[in-house]
Amino acid sequence: MSSIEVIGGERLKGELKIQGSKNAALPVIAAAILNKGITVLKNCPRILDVYHMINVLEELGGSAKWEKDVLVIDTAGINSSSVSEESVRKMRSSILFLGALLGRFKEVTIAYPGGCSIGKRPIDYHLASLKRMNVLQEFLGPNESIIHCHTDKIIGNDIFLEFPSVGATQNVILSAVLSEGTTRIFNAAREPEVWELCNYLAEAGARICGKGTAFIEVEGVKKLHDVEYTLPSDRIVAGTYMAAIAATNGNAVLLDTPVRQIETVIRTMQKSGCKIEESDNALKISCTERLLPVKLLCTRPYPGFPTDMQSQMMTMLCLADGRSTIVEEIFESRFQNVEELRRMGAIINLDESGRRAEVDGVKSLSAATVTAHDLRGGAALVIAGLSATGKTVIRDATCIDRGYEDICRDMSMLGARIRYCSENVL
Ligand code: UD1
Repeated sequence: MSSIEVIGGERLKGELKIQGSKNAALPVIAAAILNKGITVLKNCPRILDVYHMINVLEELGGSAKWEKDVLVIDTAGINSSSVSEESVRKMRSSILFLGALLGRFKEVTIAYPGGCSIGKRPIDYHLASLKRMNVLQEFLGPNESIIHCHTDKIIGNDIFLEFPSVGATQNVILSAVLSEGTTRIFNAAREPEVWELCNYLAEAGARICGKGTAFIEVEGVKKLHDVEYTLPSDRIVAGTYMAAIAATNGNAVLLDTPVRQIETVIRTMQKSGCKIEESDNALKISCTERLLPVKLLCTRPYPGFPTDMQSQMMTMLCLADGRSTIVEEIFESRFQNVEELRRMGAIINLDESGRRAEVDGVKSLSAATVTAHDLRGGAALVIAGLSATGKTVIRDATCIDRGYEDICRDMSMLGARIRYCSENVL
């Protein structure tokens, strides 16, 4: 486990390019299995979660090689439909192999992904939807923790999602692409990453209508073909760096930013007093005055405010001039940073439900040793450290590498004093 050390107090300034999108890359890497051949994935981020997906592909008999930021995936040799329990435990998104392997082999064995630090994260919508598509399910192992799904043919059907789950929408699409008949998904997730998956599949020969809307229709085809695909930039990384610039009263330009995908984040930051100039794929953010509070911020499915930006926004609002209220509507345990931020002098009160936080802004945070509990929470502690005076140490920082190529490199480029260090030298 590595730690990050930040000497805070520098106003971030300069210019930075945003990396490729994690949440677009992961489902596309799984989807590559549906074509017995080559996918050339451009602008693919070099992050732990992508490395992990590659390891699973290799375990299954496929291969992948990097050419700079291009990942060339070859799935022709895949000959197993079993994902090891260890892989699913390492990364919850391995559950995307459920739909992809089922689509290719009509069979899949995969461990039940447990909860994680941000919540219980069940997969009941995934399984209930697949059942409606003629997929039989058995639960194996001592704790019935292994799911074995099989069918003689996947048959398209109408799927009504109780909640627009991103993963369930993606697994249904993956299962439907090579099925018989037509699958119609009602209340589908509208996150840009669902659109990207549909777009990639359509480029590879799938028939999909309604991408980006709450009603998606997939008509099964016989096979897919090789494809070259360029991933968009990461909207959450862009949002994280905007929050870092705001929290340090900085002034910087973010290049290759998916501006249209972060409208809600931009509007919220503007409410907080940030000046933002947008173009098609870049933005300039400057926050020279003390930040203003945001009366009520609720996380919602896209196009609402993303839960993946909630922790970073909480750090920002800890510094605002007044009281902000944050309600976490998507995941039940996503306020683990509260304790860490309090160590740095933040004033935050949680209500009994643990999903509503009242943040009373302070003039500045003080440096401390804190612990990262999850990917976005860890990034939010980096932001807190950047704004605080003195040396902040973020322990267990490896989880940040799951989604950020090199947060220290990026923040240093904007003038921050920040570095990785090994835990045992602290
Ligand atoms: C994806 C994103 C994650 C983001 C989340 C919400 C990826 C790789 N991950 O996660 O970064 O935070 O969307 O935008 O793209 N639920 C159920 N039953 C199910 C499925 C989901 O109850 O079968 C619940 C979850 O517990 C959660 C909510 O629905 O409370 C949203 O989950 P979902 O949209 O499925 O998130 P993920 O796809 O896991």
